[in-house]
Amino acid sequence: MALESTNPTKTQAWKKLEQHYKTTKDVHLKALFAEDGERAKDLSIHWDDFLFDFSKNRVTKDTLSLLLELADEVNLKDAITKYFGGEAINQTENRAVLHTALRAKKTDSVIVDGVNAIPEVYKVKEHIKSFSKAIISGTKKGYTGKAFTDVVNIGIGGSDLGPAMVVEALRFYKNHLKTHFVSNVDGDHVHEILKELDPETTLFVVVSKTFTTQETLSNATTIKKWFLKTAKQEDVAKHFAAVSTNTEKIAEFGIAADNVFPMWDWVGGRFSLWSAVGITIALAVGYENFDALLKGANSMDDHFKTTEFDSNIPVIMALLSIWYNNFHKAETEAIIPYTQYLSRFSAYLQQGIMESNGKRVDRNGNPVDYQTGTIIWGEPGTNAQHAFFQLIHQGTKLIPADFIGFKKSLHGDTDHHNKLMANFFAQTEALMNGKTGDEVLYELKKKNLSQAEISNLLPFKIFTGNKPTNTFLIDQLTPKSLGALIAAYEHKIFVQGVVWNIFSYDQWGVELGKQLATNILKDIDDSGLTDHDSSTLRLLQLFKK
Ligand code: F6P
Repeated sequence: MALESTNPTKTQAWKKLEQHYKTTKDVHLKALFAEDGERAKDLSIHWDDFLFDFSKNRVTKDTLSLLLELADEVNLKDAITKYFGGEAINQTENRAVLHTALRAKKTDSVIVDGVNAIPEVYKVKEHIKSFSKAIISGTKKGYTGKAFTDVVNIGIGGSDLGPAMVVEALRFYKNHLKTHFVSNVDGDHVHEILKELDPETTLFVVVSKTFTTQETLSNATTIKKWFLKTAKQEDVAKHFAAVSTNTEKIAEFGIAADNVFPMWDWVGGRFSLWSAVGITIALAVGYENFDALLKGANSMDDHFKTTEFDSNIPVIMALLSIWYNNFHKAETEAIIPYTQYLSRFSAYLQQGIMESNGKRVDRNGNPVDYQTGTIIWGEPGTNAQHAFFQLIHQGTKLIPADFIGFKKSLHGDTDHHNKLMANFFAQTEALMNGKTGDEVLYELKKKNLSQAEISNLLPFKIFTGNKPTNTFLIDQLTPKSLGALIAAYEHKIFVQGVVWNIFSYDQWGVELGKQLATNILKDIDDSGLTDHDSSTLRLLQLFKK
């Protein structure tokens, strides 16, 4: 059954939110905290080893009730049931959206086209387990009898970003295998990586849901050619593995059936790290850690499915984001993890969020007259503070930000961790409170500056504050907590798609560029040029000269 289709702007809640926005838009966070001593406690959710504090947002209890009313009016409850139940909610591709089934419990049942998908999921998990164990332990060897030392993940988009982000995030838990990621069709990328490799001890994993992606096939072909300079055709079977729904194409590439890991069309590329697409994760940190990642995601799934919306982390994340995007007209959101391990987290979420919710027509195919997907960006703190935080603090744009921090560091260096976390807490406090003219004046006076100097400097040193942030304070970065954190963002994406009445699980928008590139490649390879606008034509002429 399809998702219901409701134009959110026609709901009663939306209209009330518009009115409410007019009366609350200038309220300062400081005032909200001053009038309610219980605010931090009331606007926080404790779940497992997570604290999600959303009190530093420009919302009152009324705002939250209206946002929750909006969720009810678009029938979010029913949408969640359909999402987890395997309904074909990816309607434009007539597919279910079941990345949640990949981390479901063995005893669960998720019916897709009349068949329970879980036994098949567990069969592939067993294969990932035995394969990764054999590579890590060295029982599976390369063509000259040596154990593997390096693993190369060849994929792009969802077949790269998820595994690459998680392998970096779980670097602390890594084993001896060196992992590499080749994604860009830029030959310099693959050739730089090949420089580091020994064909006798390298395992290549070709990851492509469709097995038709230009970048991945070009890189895999280049790598195979390089490999065959020293090895024989029959050695490919030992050194190449593949993950795809397209098993025919894998066979054409010459990959041994034993090294083939299937996936299903009900797993979207950008949500696929939980499937065999995550095999590089299992290879890098061991199957047990991969499984713990899945378990963490599964517990967030349970939280999302069963918790009342007012204390449901993904629901609250999504509704707050809608409040800023659609009422405060904020266009971007920053994601700032205070751990270097999560250096690829916002890049990963850029695909997850922007490929999903960057849509301009609603579920009836009509152009929307309200804003949808937010622009996502970010870098780890404290680096981000020394790069773009100036604009968040004193620029003209409203940029809601998620701060993600951990109580305990992994290496246990308390000195560093305390400094890191002092910055973490200081930033959200500073963003909220800012610094008033009086406070600046007091500070400048203490410096014994002249009246003229004080007047000149004063405006530049004022911070208006009132910048909204969410704070995730998590016990420690473990496979389990990482799994839960990623899943929270996945469900945020889903909730926003439901409210915005768009389809979050297709990505037709990336097709046009692919089509044109195919035509232009012919122009580049052939002697003549087909018809183009004058700018493109001139650029092509110059390139071909
Ligand atoms: O960029 C479009 C896209 O289809 C993504 O959604 C996907 O993750 C990526 O290309 C790679 O696709 P595939 O896994 O089929 O090679």
